[in-house]
Amino acid sequence: MEIIKVKDQQSGSQKAFELIAQGLQNNAHVLGLATGSTPIKLYQEMVKSNLDFSQITSINLDEYIGLDADNPQSYHYFMNQNLFQFKKFKNSYVPNGVASDIDAEIKNYDQIIADNPIDIQILGIGQNGHIGFNEPKTPFDCTTHRVQLTQSTIEANARFFADKNDVPKEAISMGIASIMKSKHIILMAWGANKAEAIYQTVKGPISEDCPASILQNHPHATIIVDEAAASKLD
Ligand code: F6R
Repeated sequence: MEIIKVKDQQSGSQKAFELIAQGLQNNAHVLGLATGSTPIKLYQEMVKSNLDFSQITSINLDEYIGLDADNPQSYHYFMNQNLFQFKKFKNSYVPNGVASDIDAEIKNYDQIIADNPIDIQILGIGQNGHIGFNEPKTPFDCTTHRVQLTQSTIEANARFFADKNDVPKEAISMGIASIMKSKHIILMAWGANKAEAIYQTVKGPISEDCPASILQNHPHATIIVDEAAASKLD
């Protein structure tokens, strides 16, 4: 694991952008993408750059079950707003949260990942160490699956909804095994509320209690943290 400590979210996002730009120069052509507050400035860097993504495939980590791409709370909508409306990709995949057959959608998503091996996967991290919607205790060997969200994740995500009761209780998520197949993983974390999760990820035991701790086993994982998120590491 390579740890890159930066002053703040802006410089960390700039660093992540540089790694992506380098990756594209070195022939990366499949990007794994995340939603949430963590990658927003990275996407802004991508949007204002002159990088061409028209030959790049993107594959998102997750989506709420029950929300379609027109729903402002859906992850697909988030991606359209923050990136896809500005940059044209060759193909962009986000799990379909309103598929009539969720099990078939899950199978289909695994096939998409198998057909398009991810070169660079962008990750945020939950306060409980989740990556994607892989909550603590999710088996490390799982591929794309249906997830019941934990209470802590529902509460953390409630800030984006008018009412806490509107937060969906289920999601489709890429699994940890799928994430681990990515050639290069870039996990970013900003702010003191991520400090404990970063500590467990970097210094804790490799345990399903902290899903991100599996990244210690990845041959090319880069952790970009601001001062507050890194505060428990020294
Ligand atoms: C989002 C995702 C989640 C978030 C995590 C952190 O696609 O996969 O694991 O990365 O919940 O969320 P933020 O960035 O909002 O703190």
